[in-house]
Amino acid sequence: MTQPFGDYQLEIYFNALNGRVSDHPMDYATLERRALAALDPSLLSYIAGGAGDEATQRRNAEAFALWGVVPRMLVGAVDRDLSVTAWGHTFPTPVFMAPVGVVGLVTPDRHGDIAVAQAAAATGVPAVLSTLMQDPLEDVIPHAGETPSFFQLYTPKDRDLAASLVERAARAGYRGIVVTLDTWIPGWRPRDLASGNFPQLRGHALRNYTSDPVFRKLTGASEDPQVIVSTWARIFGNPLTWADLEWLRSLTDLPLILKGIGHPDDARRALDAGVDGIYCSNHGGRQANGGLSALELLPEVVAACDGRVPVLFDSGVRSGSDVIKALGLGATMVGIGRPYVYGLAVGGVPGLIHLLRMFLAEADLLMAVNGYPDVAEVRRNMRRAS
Ligand SMILES: Cc1cc2nc3c(=O)[nH]c(=O)nc-3n(C[C@H](O)[C@H](O)[C@H](O)COP(=O)(O)O)c2cc1C
Repeated sequence: MTQPFGDYQLEIYFNALNGRVSDHPMDYATLERRALAALDPSLLSYIAGGAGDEATQRRNAEAFALWGVVPRMLVGAVDRDLSVTAWGHTFPTPVFMAPVGVVGLVTPDRHGDIAVAQAAAATGVPAVLSTLMQDPLEDVIPHAGETPSFFQLYTPKDRDLAASLVERAARAGYRGIVVTLDTWIPGWRPRDLASGNFPQLRGHALRNYTSDPVFRKLTGASEDPQVIVSTWARIFGNPLTWADLEWLRSLTDLPLILKGIGHPDDARRALDAGVDGIYCSNHGGRQANGGLSALELLPEVVAACDGRVPVLFDSGVRSGSDVIKALGLGATMVGIGRPYVYGLAVGGVPGLIHLLRMFLAEADLLMAVNGYPDVAEVRRNMRRAS
């Protein structure tokens, strides 16, 4: 049985009784407003923006209103289980932090990846840490303590570099490899284009490359930022095909999870190739505009997986009730993206911990009030709004 996450509200009320009213935001709209004011404009456009006119990005969040949960009374759901067992771990929460490159830049000390790992350690919420870090992956993971963390791979064109990154992640203690498939080339992002801003091309978040022996061989161990950036730009995105999957699989015995899956046929084919997890996501609408929301794609992806592997989900999750709805539609675990970056930007590590506890408390209290002792009961009571 997990700890009652909902007790966080008592902590907030009792602290206020003792004269300490929380200055953390208590809802997403307030959080977003404060983050937009706090973030440097160049970071803001990169984090808040998306592809095209951002219709898919908006639809991701709006789609949650297409479904609702039906309350059940006289259940007395005093004990509620939100824990998840996957890949040999029991996670106390069904929530995880999605990989966000350049989160390292969000804290004033520019060690935001470490801040994310610290929040994972403090809350038990696992982090999937991006290839695009400000600190080498080996320096980040110790801060996650006992909470299992995952490494997200942007597969480079150079196969030896890909193998090196995966091998380093395994040696450092990451518990799984999340391969992102939808970003071998950046989507059309008007906000970034308008300001000509792309952080990696300014040398940011490349520490996993510059600390890598294979990458250093490619640059001739040059310390010249121009050489580093041009080498990175040349090798960054590998347009993988199904023919590459056997090679990817051969790189590691760790759980291999494919991120960016939205079609049930792709999910089935990936499972047949021996992957250990499917991650349904449209990258928060940052890559391809014009699509359905990720939530609308989730039920078919879940059905295709047929319980064979865990199904991760993200894109558009903005509250604890969104978490419950995604679980209700079959996700095994639910990823938070921009909201946790905003939590970190507004309040540092305490702000990020608050954000995670806020989502978990709202999710847990929704289950309490609606009489759901577990996720199975949520699933029985999901309805599509007419
Ligand atoms: C600023 C930013 C950077 C991101 N960087 C990565 C990344 O490095 N790797 C990756 O797989 N996904 C990346 N994503 C996508 C997230 O993992 C996730 O799919 C997305 O944020 C979910 O949508 P949401 O932010 O609307 O909740 C990034 C998202 C944002 C906002």
